[in-house]
Amino acid sequence: MRKLLAPSILAGDWWNIGEQIEATIRGGADVLHFDVMDGHFVPNITAGPEILASVRKRVSLPIDAHLMIEDPDRYIPEFIKAGANWISVHIENVPHIHRTLSFIKDLGAKAGVVLNPGTPLSAIEEAIHYADYVLLMSVNPGFSGQKFIERSLGRLSLLREMRDRLNPDCLIEIDGGIKESNVVEVVRAGADVVVVGSGIFGAQDIESQTRKIKDLISSAVAV
Ligand code: DX5
Ligand code: ZN
Repeated sequence: MRKLLAPSILAGDWWNIGEQIEATIRGGADVLHFDVMDGHFVPNITAGPEILASVRKRVSLPIDAHLMIEDPDRYIPEFIKAGANWISVHIENVPHIHRTLSFIKDLGAKAGVVLNPGTPLSAIEEAIHYADYVLLMSVNPGFSGQKFIERSLGRLSLLREMRDRLNPDCLIEIDGGIKESNVVEVVRAGADVVVVGSGIFGAQDIESQTRKIKDLISSAVAV
């Protein structure tokens, strides 16, 4: 299975975001990760569908909207209309996960279910049967630039086992605290899609940093 790199554009500089996104694309980005926060489900506020739509107009890469908001069902159609190709929702605040994931798929997007670091993997043992991807948080959601929670590596391996057993088509995405120093480990532990925020946008040269991380991902797969 091909491994995908998803730069998290929340970590960019909003003054120069267009140029920075283009630099990640030249460096080999496969998917753009777009964090949506509402100041309720998580203690930060980011961007909504209008901003996603303006990114959509200029890039052809798939856009992966990670919804860290209360009552995500209410906003899913708007994000898909704005051009999101993948939409993920948190298991911690979605009471009818089968309904929500089906709703996302019916509207034509890939449907993902997200787990916070404190949520047991067993919480998604049912939803993994019909999710297109599972997003495992390796920091508490809300901010980029946080430290990778080490227990996430063991959780990744267990999640991979669960995925292989229950739904081999489901992708595993990892998000939070991933940098050059640990990207190989997360891929070897089972990640198919790797989100990198400050590990890319914190660099002087975003294009070559993206390429470096992409090469590390390929080297991890080659072994
Ligand atoms: C955190 C977000 C992440 C974050 C990643 O709530 O979901 O996508 O922007 O940034 P880094 O890679 O810096 O942890
Ligand atoms: Zn995210």
